[in-house]
Amino acid sequence: MILVCGGAGYIGSHMTAYLQERGKEVVVVDSLVMGHRESIKDTKLYVGDLCDSDFLGKVFSENPIEAVIDFAAFSLVGESMTAPLKYFGNNVGGTIALLETMLKHDVNKIVFSSTAAVYGKQEVIPIPETAATRPENPYGASKLMVEDILKWCDSCHGLKYSVLRYFNVAGAHPSGNIGEDHSPESHLIPIIAQAALNKREKVTIYGDDYLTPDGTCIRDYIHVMDLVEAHDLALGKLRQQNQSHTYNLGNGKGFSVKEVIETFEKVIGRTIPKEVANRRPGDPAVLIAGSEKAMTKLNWQPKYNSLETIISTAWNWHSKNPYGYARSVLNE
Ligand code: UFG
Repeated sequence: MILVCGGAGYIGSHMTAYLQERGKEVVVVDSLVMGHRESIKDTKLYVGDLCDSDFLGKVFSENPIEAVIDFAAFSLVGESMTAPLKYFGNNVGGTIALLETMLKHDVNKIVFSSTAAVYGKQEVIPIPETAATRPENPYGASKLMVEDILKWCDSCHGLKYSVLRYFNVAGAHPSGNIGEDHSPESHLIPIIAQAALNKREKVTIYGDDYLTPDGTCIRDYIHVMDLVEAHDLALGKLRQQNQSHTYNLGNGKGFSVKEVIETFEKVIGRTIPKEVANRRPGDPAVLIAGSEKAMTKLNWQPKYNSLETIISTAWNWHSKNPYGYARSVLNE
């Protein structure tokens, strides 16, 4: 049985669906602070905080857990700049409690969701896993601390990990039944969708004075289904080789904020109101992944790898569920 921590969140719920669609047994832990019960339907769920060791002990005692996939974290770059201790407390503290419980119950495999935010400003683009890490925000710093903790848990306890450094995750399950629903929303693609649905007046472009061709930030967008597939492959590799590794997950292609808005407009066939504002603190100008390691070592081949496809699946979810999961509940 696989424990998915944060399994009712945006990425976690897609992971849970992916595993279940392949007949794998899953148990989910989620605080439901950001996650949604409705996103995982009748999956076995324990509602609680990862920082609570007694709660975690109960989950491990009651289930034959063989490996853990950990998505449970606060992940808003902007918020982390105003509330750094919230990020260190939850993201580092919660993972330490999880690792302690795993060791106590002889579970020694974890796939950990890390982030491109560990890199910060880089000279070499696309960024290889070997690049020096220089996080520019507490969110990235909190994930890097956990990466370090994992290395020590491997050296001292033989705990094996796959650290997956995600670039910008977007899109939704092809069914349109699960997708991104954050409150408040801060990610670019769902924000454009909200503007397209008249749920917000306009899209604010955070800065057009970066050293990029059109002056707006460049990101590497990766589809959530491709991302969760990489987790499954990484876990398979861990079982097979019992070696710890760190992999980037991205498409290796960068798109500016303006290009993402233009592509969205093309996909839905109309223009979206937008305006340029100041930069958002903590945003690096360019983040593009070098993902060859995941492609060669894990045999990972992103399938939804065009920006149009990523945006189309996101739009399918948002237009079917303009109020996210709240609306789905009202419909039932
Ligand atoms: N952006 C806007 N307007 C908005 C929202 C975002 O211009 O209303 C811009 C941001 O400034 C940034 C780009 O769009 O340049 C993407 O922003 P997101 O908030 O969608 O994503 P981030 O790049 O800030 O962060 C995401 C994940 C992090 C991860 C990071 C790694 O949320 O967890 O990607 O690249 F660390």
